[in-house]
Amino acid sequence: MSSRTPPPAPRPPRDGGAHASAIDVRPPRANELEAWAAATATAFGAAVDPDELPHFRGYLDPSRNLAAYDGTTPVATVAAASFALSVPGGELPAAGVTEVGVSPAYRRRGILTALMRRQLDDVRAWGEPLAVLQATEAEIYGRYGYGLGTVAASVDAHGVRVPGEDGGRIRLVGHDEALALLPRVYDRVRDVTPGFHSRTRGWWEHKTLPDEEGYRGGGGPLQRAVIERDGRPEAYALYRIENASPDGYPDGVLHLQEEMACSPAACRQLWRYLLAMDLVGRVRAPHVAPDHPLLLLASEPARLRMRVKDGLFVRLVDVPAALAGRRYALDGVLTLEVEDGFCAWNAGRWRLEVRDGQAGVTPAGDAPADLRLAVADLATVYLGGFTFLDLERAGRVESLTPGAIERATAIFRGERAPFSPEDY
Ligand SMILES: CC(C)(COP(=O)(O)OP(=O)(O)OC[C@H]1O[C@@H](n2cnc3c(N)ncnc32)[C@H](O)[C@@H]1OP(=O)(O)O)[C@@H](O)C(=O)NCCC(=O)NCCS
Repeated sequence: MSSRTPPPAPRPPRDGGAHASAIDVRPPRANELEAWAAATATAFGAAVDPDELPHFRGYLDPSRNLAAYDGTTPVATVAAASFALSVPGGELPAAGVTEVGVSPAYRRRGILTALMRRQLDDVRAWGEPLAVLQATEAEIYGRYGYGLGTVAASVDAHGVRVPGEDGGRIRLVGHDEALALLPRVYDRVRDVTPGFHSRTRGWWEHKTLPDEEGYRGGGGPLQRAVIERDGRPEAYALYRIENASPDGYPDGVLHLQEEMACSPAACRQLWRYLLAMDLVGRVRAPHVAPDHPLLLLASEPARLRMRVKDGLFVRLVDVPAALAGRRYALDGVLTLEVEDGFCAWNAGRWRLEVRDGQAGVTPAGDAPADLRLAVADLATVYLGGFTFLDLERAGRVESLTPGAIERATAIFRGERAPFSPEDY
């Protein structure tokens, strides 16, 4: 049996406490949306980007936004996009937490905790068993039960190429054609990869494909390259070129926003295309899968300068619904004792009985547990990116019956590493 490094001391749920007593947490009204967006910008030391405002409404449902008001002034914000997240063998409704910010003049008074309290209660009431987010500062979210569920990587490639022959046809397409073709590739990759959002047309239009000046970050207009084979889209890349000639020689940067391929041949061709771009010295991709086939395709993998970073943080808002909503690699029975100081409805022992890959999850009462762990650590193994053995090596799970770690690892094992291509 293994022992466990205790997680950070559980803190009692706070509702904002005395410091935040004058603060009112509620969704913004229809006529308060601009002020809501301005409050988010203020938290990041920025101004509202006028290009961005109309897009907010396209991928965020304002009734799911929240703000903390001091009187009528919004001083902190959070939003929850709505989609289905792909999980091993299926998908589940999920809330995508974003636009988290507290005005510098109101920090360290419990306002974020008050927003997280209200938001997780809302997500539960909406019947979404999962919440996910990408953290600018990851340290903040463990106390609310979020655990690292996927890993991502950045690439800064120069002096590297992909050898081989090309087959399919590459076309640069316009916005409307991209809207029609790209989802066909994305959805096929999503079908086999946990961690992907379902993207509505609104999400494509207002989150993935916008191209106003404010979105360019020093690069040129958005380029939308599509590879077709046998008349159907097989891969795409969204990128911008930043032209530069520092010493009189062209040495531009290709900034890759997103790429997706649903066949090995299309993947190879796409990267041959990107890495061989004329007048470009480097290809920078801030957000790719850390097990990307590029590592095996590249002539010099080290020259990809790949760096691993955190990806999606996952919160099991409804533990039994989340556990029952994914499929498992092996049949068996496990009793998990889950600690959850922030969402007390999850705390306790849960019996997971897997038959034909499908789990029934029921309260286990006082029955002895096989494993004890915090809800954030259960979230870490949920999508299959980490295993119970990984948790054990990090001192994050307590084994209460012999062999439980190995059994749980075999039951939860995923076929493919999860990845989230979203970067928000
Ligand atoms: C990070 C931020 C949202 C925190 O808001 P806040 O209202 O000050 O947070 P709270 O007072 O509710 O603090 C909640 C807890 O988080 C801790 N915390 C707050 N900010 C933190 C930070 N930047 N790093 C580490 N811990 C932090 C607090 O100490 C507190 O801990 P406790 O539970 O042990 O008491 C706010 O500082 C902010 O808007 N920062 C700039 C924008 C940003 O970073 N957004 C996050 C994007 S992921």
